[in-house]
Amino acid sequence: MIKQILGNLSSKGKGVLILSIIFFVLYALTGTAMMLLVINMIEKITSGQQVILSHYWLGLIALVVFKAACNVTADMAKHFAGFDVEQNIRRSILKRLKGFSLGFYSKERIGEISTIIQKDVSTMEAVVAHMWSRMSSDFIVAIILGAGLFLVDWRMGLAMISLLPVAVLILVSGIKGGQKVQEESQDNLADMVSLFVEYVKGIPLLKAFNESKDFQEKLQVSTKSFGESSKKVSRRVAGYLGRYSFFVELCFAVLATLGAWFVFRESLSVFNYLIFVIISREFYKPFVEMETHWTNYIKVTDSYKRIMTIFDAPVVESPVISKNPDGFDIEYDHVGFSYEEGEFEMKDANFRLAEGSLTALVGPSGSGKTTITNLLLRFWEPQRGAIRIGGVDIRDINYDDLLANISIVMQNVILFADTIEGNIKIGNQNATRDDVIEAAKKAMIHDFIMSLPMGYDTPVGENGVGLSGGQKQRISIARAFLKDSPIVLLDEITSNVDPVNEAKIQRAISNLARNRTVLVIAHHLRTIRTADNILVFNEGVLVEEGWHDMLAEAEGLYRKLWSAQEDARQWLLAQGENSCQEMP
Ligand SMILES: Nc1ncnc2c1ncn2[C@@H]1O[C@H](COP(=O)(O)OP(=O)(O)O)[C@@H](O)[C@H]1O
Ligand SMILES: [Mg+2]
Repeated sequence: MIKQILGNLSSKGKGVLILSIIFFVLYALTGTAMMLLVINMIEKITSGQQVILSHYWLGLIALVVFKAACNVTADMAKHFAGFDVEQNIRRSILKRLKGFSLGFYSKERIGEISTIIQKDVSTMEAVVAHMWSRMSSDFIVAIILGAGLFLVDWRMGLAMISLLPVAVLILVSGIKGGQKVQEESQDNLADMVSLFVEYVKGIPLLKAFNESKDFQEKLQVSTKSFGESSKKVSRRVAGYLGRYSFFVELCFAVLATLGAWFVFRESLSVFNYLIFVIISREFYKPFVEMETHWTNYIKVTDSYKRIMTIFDAPVVESPVISKNPDGFDIEYDHVGFSYEEGEFEMKDANFRLAEGSLTALVGPSGSGKTTITNLLLRFWEPQRGAIRIGGVDIRDINYDDLLANISIVMQNVILFADTIEGNIKIGNQNATRDDVIEAAKKAMIHDFIMSLPMGYDTPVGENGVGLSGGQKQRISIARAFLKDSPIVLLDEITSNVDPVNEAKIQRAISNLARNRTVLVIAHHLRTIRTADNILVFNEGVLVEEGWHDMLAEAEGLYRKLWSAQEDARQWLLAQGENSCQEMP
């Protein structure tokens, strides 16, 4: 894993990382050299030899300067390496994001990707910069000092490491055993966070229904169980960490005591004894810090795994040699598809939309209507069969060209923080103001736009003026006019709009439909009575096909849906009349 992460460093970044490790090693060794110098000075003074103090001072000053220089260099180099990794990962993510099918970008995904780009990538920086250089240099220093100390006196060397295996064993088994509790605590945290998010999102509703008490209790329970589990984790960690550092310290105590005994028996010089007591602290350093390094390791591998989910997702592949469709009829040839195995399945969809015709897709909610459009846009790929435009398999058409040929108007229109003109121009960036006005007129939204104080320059979207669902939809129809593509998909656009808007939208759509191949997904069957062809779906299966009069007569699903809607309409009309009569 670490190797993969470091694989994201450029060759310059790698060089700099190695440089920083070398300078950290030099930094630590200089510190040791200073101590040796001091010990040597003390030994000379205490044994009555002649000492030229100024030489020692000069030596010490030189070492201090060198040490500081090493520190600065290493620090700068490690940050450079960290930024290098961060930048490279961000760059590859961006490249990858461009290639995904739009189907990849579900709402949860977008949230997840933002977290990855913000948080996980920064973790990479932190770890490569701070953990990796420090950890490697600590261990290199330990090896050098350990070897040196063994050369000074092998008996003391053995004492110095005598209890380390026990300590490391305690740490490893503690970490392993603690993993389950840790995971439990992480799960509790995730539960609590999603409850909070749900709560914040639902506050207006909860207030309206006076239900916030129940929810608050739920939140309290969740907060408490997270608190309990994190306490459990802390207790556990404190337990094994305590035992671990006890053994590391005990090891030092063994060294100090044994050394004193050797000195007493005159088999070890005081000078060498001091060297061991003082320098061994440097040797123990990576062991003392091992737990921090381990936590960092877990953190970085977690982050890296999340980053990899972006790289593991499949991208839309454009053909090597792309073909141009001959005309714009659309054919679904025995298409089979499911989002996930064992769940909803589109079974053997087999039908044709004639060029320039208007086809309506109807059926209960969840019957697979939107899925049909998703497949045409290659938001997902069918597992069986093929979809052809003008006789060419859509997989053989360059993906950008395919998208350029299709306009989509959907129920939820997204407006960007821009002017109205800017938002319409998404359909065609090269359009002039006149083009935009013409499109808006055709989309029946021009008059409304002119009624705004700033007209086409009115800011909308985030922090801009609020528009109704119907107005947004007409803006998105204007986008489609401007894009002027031969194929148009309309997905349930009149489901949630008021009658005035609906009439306008209907007229706009009839304008748009002229001379194009149009697929309309409609909830209100009244709106598609004049369609050239109607496809009725139920649970992923095309169950009926024909035109309105024919289907309304036949004994099928369409007739049931139609009569249900007509009955509801009659009832509503009757209610309206009754209430009118009651009015004075
Ligand atoms: N991204 C998705 N992942 C998994 N299942 C999905 C996804 N989108 C839709 N579905 C499921 O596919 C089925 C058909 O959905 P859809 O085509 O949107 O129906 P309709 O538009 O007719 O209401 C539903 O059961 C829905 O839950
Ligand atoms: Mg739908």
